[in-house]
Amino acid sequence: MSVASPPERVGDSPQPARARVSWFAARVGHGAVLAPMAGFSDAPFRRVARHFGAAWAVSEMVSANGLARAIQDERGLQISAPYEGEPYVVVQLFAADPDLAARAVVRLERAYRPDAFDLNLGCPAKKVINRGCGSELLRDPEHAAAVLGAMVRAATVPVSAKLRLGVDTDVSVEVAQALASAGAAALAVHGRTAAQRYQGRADWGAIARVAAAVDVPVLGSGDVSDASGYRHARAAGVGVMIARAAVGRPWLFSSVLGGEPPTADEIVTVMWRHARDHVAWYRGEHPLRSMRGHLAAYARELNAAYGEPTWADALRAALVRVDSLADLRDALRALAGVDVERSHVHLGDEWRRLAEAGAARARQVAG
Ligand SMILES: Cc1cc2nc3c(=O)[nH]c(=O)nc-3n(C[C@H](O)[C@H](O)[C@H](O)COP(=O)(O)O)c2cc1C
Repeated sequence: MSVASPPERVGDSPQPARARVSWFAARVGHGAVLAPMAGFSDAPFRRVARHFGAAWAVSEMVSANGLARAIQDERGLQISAPYEGEPYVVVQLFAADPDLAARAVVRLERAYRPDAFDLNLGCPAKKVINRGCGSELLRDPEHAAAVLGAMVRAATVPVSAKLRLGVDTDVSVEVAQALASAGAAALAVHGRTAAQRYQGRADWGAIARVAAAVDVPVLGSGDVSDASGYRHARAAGVGVMIARAAVGRPWLFSSVLGGEPPTADEIVTVMWRHARDHVAWYRGEHPLRSMRGHLAAYARELNAAYGEPTWADALRAALVRVDSLADLRDALRALAGVDVERSHVHLGDEWRRLAEAGAARARQVAG
């Protein structure tokens, strides 16, 4: 892979044809994809999801503006950093300015050589839309296409986009066609408008209409939480992204392909392994604080697996207060009677067995 042109020259060259046929098309049948989730889809979680057979995983969104201008440089680079050996690295950018988007692409290619970039056209958060980014791009398909086109021209790898249906009405076909014409190699569609946030059900009919209207792979996003939801979407010829349901349940990527759900002990193993990876990735004073959202979700799964025991509430409360691995170990020992130290020697094997079962299911289904 060659290094892209310097920032001041990006945007000059014609759109390369290679962006059209990409690894997205080949991978889309390999299982569900971990959707980008700010605050959740970091490197340690992407690794867990991949272990369980996620076809690929998209990074948390990164500000193109910040990267291009080297503002909060470290933060942007840390958010998008791949873990060692990460396959199919897809970095999502939020951007409103074509030139800054292109510069961010060049910077990230130099830093990490990701396998693809993704443009965010879905985030409804104020701090993002106030800068004209995220779902604001849905108001002007031509401008959205200009931002994406600049990324395509700057990148030596494919560029995808992830959109909501519209700001308050469904304009997804129009936006998707504009993005595909500008060189998008794949499109992910969250079947809600920005105004809906997370209310109501995702509209998979609208997602299917987008898939019928463009000639690039389309992935649907919204409310898939089990094997039947996954199969339903795949039967309609659409790839599947999973976000919320995978938090605390990363084995879902194996389950949607028919894998067995883990036992309570195995859930502890997965959580402990994820926590160790998290601590190794984020050094600092309170390394588990930024994992509390995941831990709360694991607690929910653990309680269900143990049959909602009397100590369920106490465990949930303890897990969202832990600061360190020692706190986590003590909480599990005191409340659930699980000794992660004692079972430490088995963790590697158990983890590997679970992970291999997930990956094998993914291979079987893809084959
Ligand atoms: C906490 C959270 C953070 C999210 N962050 C992003 C993001 O950074 N970029 C993006 O395109 N979508 C983001 N999303 C949207 C999800 O990728 C997904 O489209 C949406 O949650 C619907 O899918 P689900 O029902 O499987 O959760 C986020 C969703 C959640 C819940």
